[in-house]
Amino acid sequence: MPADKLAIRKAEPKDAKKIIECMQSVMDEHIYFVSEYYLYTERGEQERLRNPDDLTLVASIGDRIAGVLTLQRGVYRKNRHTANLGIAVMNGYRHQGIGTGLIMESLHWAENNGIKKVNLEVFSTNVNAINAYSKIGFVHEGVRKSQFFINGEYADDVLMTYWIDQSISVGSI
Ligand SMILES: CC(C)(COP(=O)(O)OP(=O)(O)OC[C@H]1O[C@@H](n2cnc3c(N)ncnc32)[C@H](O)[C@@H]1OP(=O)(O)O)[C@@H](O)C(=O)NCCC(=O)NCCS
Repeated sequence: MPADKLAIRKAEPKDAKKIIECMQSVMDEHIYFVSEYYLYTERGEQERLRNPDDLTLVASIGDRIAGVLTLQRGVYRKNRHTANLGIAVMNGYRHQGIGTGLIMESLHWAENNGIKKVNLEVFSTNVNAINAYSKIGFVHEGVRKSQFFINGEYADDVLMTYWIDQSISVGSI
């Protein structure tokens, strides 16, 4: 039997349960996210997936969901040109190009939807993620020192940005 192919696609409300399971399994590793529990119930997640301002992509392999990416656009007029990126690829599916595929697809969506910069936050201890983001072209924008305490050690909050519109990257100061 041929192996199921990987597909990167927009999430649909029917994916809600598997998205929650994927996110929760990565949160259960306790070293990648601040939150220990996924915020939404299945009904809440279905509702979130209907919000046209946000993008949720899934990496599906047959009927499994191996990775989830969310881009949440700024909700105010002053920050609607930005979006925050969150991503989780399940243990066992990492380092196979899935994360890069999800991020590249989301950057196309951001560009086509008037977003000028895509932001994310990552623990300084998450070297694999920082490497993945850097290879794609995210740059360090700042750092909040010892913002987190993880397994007995302090970690920094690293702020990274991908400039869709490089011309605004000079800022106002
Ligand atoms: C970070 C993450 C999204 C990257 O996705 P991925 O599918 O594993 O990454 P890719 O296969 O696209 O790899 C891209 C690069 O990431 C780095 N990388 C990812 N996993 C790695 C690993 N296990 N060991 C070493 N480098 C790794 C490498 O630089 C890699 O480039 P290379 O293939 O040329 O060596 C994914 O590993 C993940 O979800 N991790 C757990 C949750 C998490 O950290 N979320 C982000 C919180 S900010």
